[in-house]
Amino acid sequence: MKMTVNEIRSRFDNEVDRFSNLETGQTSTVDSALVLEMIANTIAKTNPNANYICDIGCGGGNFTLKVLENFPTLESTIIDLSMNMLNRAKERIESTGGTVEQLLQGDIRELKLCKQHYDIVIAAAVLHHLRNRAEWNKVLKKIYDSLVEGGTFWYWDLIKHEIPKVDDIQNDRYKEYLIQFKGEKYQQHVFDYIKKEDTPETVTFIISELQKVGFKKVDILHKNSKFAAIVAVK
Ligand SMILES: C[S@@+](CC[C@H](N)C(=O)[O-])C[C@H]1O[C@@H](n2cnc3c(N)ncnc32)[C@H](O)[C@@H]1O
Repeated sequence: MKMTVNEIRSRFDNEVDRFSNLETGQTSTVDSALVLEMIANTIAKTNPNANYICDIGCGGGNFTLKVLENFPTLESTIIDLSMNMLNRAKERIESTGGTVEQLLQGDIRELKLCKQHYDIVIAAAVLHHLRNRAEWNKVLKKIYDSLVEGGTFWYWDLIKHEIPKVDDIQNDRYKEYLIQFKGEKYQQHVFDYIKKEDTPETVTFIISELQKVGFKKVDILHKNSKFAAIVAVK
């Protein structure tokens, strides 16, 4: 049995500090700091006239804060299950002079988003909590509808591979990363959490679903072992 939404909320309520470091990002994922930088820099080049950003599963606000370094006047909508995460994200954004347009606490499956409003939507390390493909379709359609024409969606997350043997190889690479980072016990701890909490999808499915809901262009920004970053343009 996978963790429930309530269990996931209370877990993240107690993990705010771990998701509030802009220099390192979320270190239990491979290439975290690199992808933070890469997404923020690519947004600056692809959405130079952006006004509104929405960060789904914002955690401590790292992605929004990194984007704000290039766009200090952007207004942000921050969304999370955890009120503790939202409070920290809001505090960090406002302390750098940023504006929080909306703060939404809830499950992205249930929340209503503004239509045709955002120039940028980010979902980093959150959609692996979706439990089936119908939920993916519903959430990606919601994200598509929330964007203005030409707006961009940025995805970064744990993924799985279509081919089980490839998945095994990439799991081993991820395990090696975790062991080198904090030792075998930590590696086991992370994999135990993945087992009970996460239901990652394949890159191939996500790309085809993004195209299905209407995105005109979809690209892979980065991929390393079990993590991938994807960008989609409306
Ligand atoms: C692994 S953290 C990532 C935080 C941030 N995006 C980052 O990359 O630093 C996942 C966040 O998503 C939130 N979350 C999990 N499931 C969610 C859901 N169904 N709807 C909204 N937020 C969710 C958690 O509370 C947590 O803050």
